Amino acid sequence: MIQTMTFKEMILQGIPHHLPSKKSRDDKFSHAPKRKDILTPAEKKLAIANALRYFPASWHAELIHEFVEELKLYGRIYMYRFMPDYEMYARPIHEYPAQSKQAAAIMLMIQNNLDPAVAQHPQELITYGGNGAVFQNWAQYLITMKYLAQIADTQTLHMYSGHPMGIFPSSIDAPRVVVTNGMMIPNYSKPEDWERYNAMGVTQYGQMTAGSYMYIGPQGIVHGTTITVMNAFRKKLGPGVSPNGKIFLTAGLGGMSGAQPKAGNIAGCITVCAEVNASAAIKRFEQGWVDKLTHTLDELIDIVKVAVSNKEVVSIAYVGNVIDVWERFDTENISVDLGSDQTSLHNPWAGGYYPVGLSFEEANEMMANDPAQFKTAVQASLRRHANAINKHTSKGTYFFDYGNAFLLEASRANADVMHDNHIDFKYPSYVQDILGPMCFDYGFGPFRWVCTSGSHDDLKRTDQIAATVLESMLANAPASIAQQLQDNITWINEAEKNKLVVGSKARILYADAEGRAKIAAAFNEAIGNGIITAPVVIGRDHHDVSGTDSPYRETSNIYDGSKFTADMSIHNVIGDSFRGATWVSIHNGGGVGWGEVSNGGFGLVLDGTDASKTKLESMLFYDVNNGIARRAWARNTGSLEAIEREMKRSPDLTVTMPNLVDEKLLQQIQ
Ligand SMILES: NC(=O)c1ccc[n+]([C@@H]2O[C@H](COP(=O)([O-])OP(=O)(O)OC[C@H]3O[C@@H](n4cnc5c(N)ncnc54)[C@H](O)[C@@H]3O)[C@@H](O)[C@H]2O)c1
Repeated sequence: MIQTMTFKEMILQGIPHHLPSKKSRDDKFSHAPKRKDILTPAEKKLAIANALRYFPASWHAELIHEFVEELKLYGRIYMYRFMPDYEMYARPIHEYPAQSKQAAAIMLMIQNNLDPAVAQHPQELITYGGNGAVFQNWAQYLITMKYLAQIADTQTLHMYSGHPMGIFPSSIDAPRVVVTNGMMIPNYSKPEDWERYNAMGVTQYGQMTAGSYMYIGPQGIVHGTTITVMNAFRKKLGPGVSPNGKIFLTAGLGGMSGAQPKAGNIAGCITVCAEVNASAAIKRFEQGWVDKLTHTLDELIDIVKVAVSNKEVVSIAYVGNVIDVWERFDTENISVDLGSDQTSLHNPWAGGYYPVGLSFEEANEMMANDPAQFKTAVQASLRRHANAINKHTSKGTYFFDYGNAFLLEASRANADVMHDNHIDFKYPSYVQDILGPMCFDYGFGPFRWVCTSGSHDDLKRTDQIAATVLESMLANAPASIAQQLQDNITWINEAEKNKLVVGSKARILYADAEGRAKIAAAFNEAIGNGIITAPVVIGRDHHDVSGTDSPYRETSNIYDGSKFTADMSIHNVIGDSFRGATWVSIHNGGGVGWGEVSNGGFGLVLDGTDASKTKLESMLFYDVNNGIARRAWARNTGSLEAIEREMKRSPDLTVTMPNLVDEKLLQQIQ
């Protein structure tokens, strides 16, 4: 008789008691590309031994061949045989077997990150960005879920790059989970090292919100991209000028980049987005994320000319290489107002960037069969890409780097992207010009929440609460932050209509320290008196004020020389952990690449109690003001103002303030 187990029983079992039969991966899902064959024969043996240690010795003879095969075929051992039989999605919190409500909320967040509707390569446990892993293999998932079902509110689970090292005694005020991803001895933090040690099964690339269980699908990215595009147009056209009929030219319709056309539509411009991978472009078109799709440059030119003369708000996907668009727009004299790029240049040699002049298939073949020639082609392409952009900027285009390492890789390829001083790039990053001075320096960043009831009504209630809080703040806000508040009030009022929820019932907006704490406190009160029916998880993207040290992105607008240090992100994760976070995480890599960034985040479960109130107030205060203090010490104008205001509001806060030096005095130095 076949006995079927319930979801709860399967979670509690962890690694199955009996060896399950072999499973192959499902072709209906997108799969991670084959990873580089980098290990020596001895290292391959080590990788196999490392994988087998999750299972009883009696299974090893059977599993060994399968794991050797996976390593050979895919460059990694995912342990497909152990993929669970139940559906993967964020269930309402009460459906999880757990001793601790906090742990149940974390299980919900993990399952959301692996939900095939949300995750990029769900069977390889990759949430986004091509390599953003929640776990390295299915054994780690099974053991972690079992541990979370067992853990009490006086214990802490420690996660080493997807591996559950164990549950240790702690205290009721400690985090339930502490996560590290990809933390390396600094000298072993080159991209090759990720390939090697990830293939061995001892580290992983957690991206930002993949390995920290805080991904909420495309909504987060649509919001951030909308804020960026809107403010970029304000910079280019001046405040209050409509971007209708103005062109935003960019590339990429993948995981995050796919948000660009939608954001362009919300901002009110013409978005032209090139994408070399036809299936990625068609997917976005069929999802309704981009309005028009064309395979030819001639048709693209016709559509764009009409859109410009009619001052349209429209988004157009061009299936092909973005360099061809930049070059053709130049010869056609089509004026590009805003330019950027979201190809995956954080991963330039393994499919993140496709060189011009080769078809998508030809490029993939060269990448696998002749990596050295592929690298040469990418670098030549980057030089041509930069030349084409330079022609447009000389005619007035405002070009910004979108944190995808475009300028970094272009400079490494000797493309013409350096400033005359040979130190800086010619073009700003979106953080240097937009998000840094307009948002992060004042504490505005990507605050988010998830309603663990899974109820749409709860989400609607949280939207209303958040809007009310922001509106009351706007009434007394200083001029320097009024626009940010107004943009987010507009966003939250439209959020339901924009239908951006995929997976868990989540929402995002940008708020500062005061706003985040007031919104969270209002949620906590509403949970306490039953208006919201179950706990709410609050958190944020790592791409924020304080959580990330990344010299070419989040901290690119730090000009006192400290942008190559990582103290802020480390203080943040430690500081959050003892002020009330339910889980904390710190990662190497994320966005711009392995070894290029240190980034961290938190999750905090609000359950309507006074204890939650104390935690949210203490933790959110530090989580935002840590970064403002550092930005103020770096002499950033907005942060100097914001931290002065915070010290007046909070007498317990004392921040060391810089004495500004007269520029004329410095000029006396020979
Ligand atoms: N959206 C954001 O807010 C944001 C913020 C910071 C950084 N980024 C960065 O943007 C990059 C993109 O992220 P993603 O998740 O979309 O990655 P992705 O790999 O899913 O998508 C990138 C897309 O670019 C396409 N592409 C590559 N080369 C091309 C070319 N020459 N012409 C046209 N299309 C080309 C690829 O086919 C792919 O579909 C990453 O480096 C990410 O770190 C995004």
